[in-house]
Amino acid sequence: MADDLFEHPCLAAVYDALDGPDRSDLNVYAGIVTVLGAQRVLDVGCGTGTFVLMLSERGVDVVGLDPAGASLDAARGKPGAERVRWVHGDATALQGDLDGMVDLAVMTANVAQAIVDERDWARTLAVVRRCLRPGGHLVFETRRPERRGWEEWTREQSETVTEVPGHGSIRHWVQLTEVNLPLVRFEAVRVFGDQTLTSTSTLRFRGEDEIAASLAASGYEVREVREAPDRPGRELVFVAQRAEG
Ligand SMILES: C[S@@+](CC[C@H](N)C(=O)[O-])C[C@H]1O[C@@H](n2cnc3c(N)ncnc32)[C@H](O)[C@@H]1O
Repeated sequence: MADDLFEHPCLAAVYDALDGPDRSDLNVYAGIVTVLGAQRVLDVGCGTGTFVLMLSERGVDVVGLDPAGASLDAARGKPGAERVRWVHGDATALQGDLDGMVDLAVMTANVAQAIVDERDWARTLAVVRRCLRPGGHLVFETRRPERRGWEEWTREQSETVTEVPGHGSIRHWVQLTEVNLPLVRFEAVRVFGDQTLTSTSTLRFRGEDEIAASLAASGYEVREVREAPDRPGRELVFVAQRAEG
């Protein structure tokens, strides 16, 4: 089950306006697509489709996968959506027709942390590996647990009002509710006029070594661990490659 933040139709409809007006975080992924010359890209947890639509405009063959139907609906309503193959579900929803066909799989905007259950994480890595062609890559980011970014997830530090065409003025904030490492729980609150919608999310904070070990166990070699250029010190970007043999 996806969080309400992505699954509730009203919240999914304003996700881009509230959470993603600045998507410079995607530049690092776009750069990797170019450097690798990736022709077919699988976006695991594509949400409202910002990245796959950007790539499809450049002629890349893209598959966008997400368990949140309302986010996919928002994505399907955007210009160019007909060029994308959309898959509703987690990675296990992928049928065998993509096996060995994907040059690059990505998980942008901390999707890896939304995959909280360790068996789900291992299954996701396994299915993605199956989809990658020999030598194909998986690139994703995750917040560094040692940076304790959740300490800034308070109403005082995050409350903002955003004017969203068609929806009016929305007051919104996040509020940390529980830290029980490696799990961190928070609420995202959106006030639409007299209606308040609150979504609860849980994220898993995995350390660099833990992620490297899970990748090795699932048949990947870590090629590089980079800083996210727009969030130095806060996040790690893993560049992994399908291991052979
Ligand atoms: C913060 S959003 C990021 C969306 C998109 N990648 C972006 O850059 O805007 C996290 C996404 O992860 C998706 N998600 C949650 N659990 C997932 C899973 N097990 N497999 C794939 N995606 C998942 C959510 O539905 C949501 O769309």
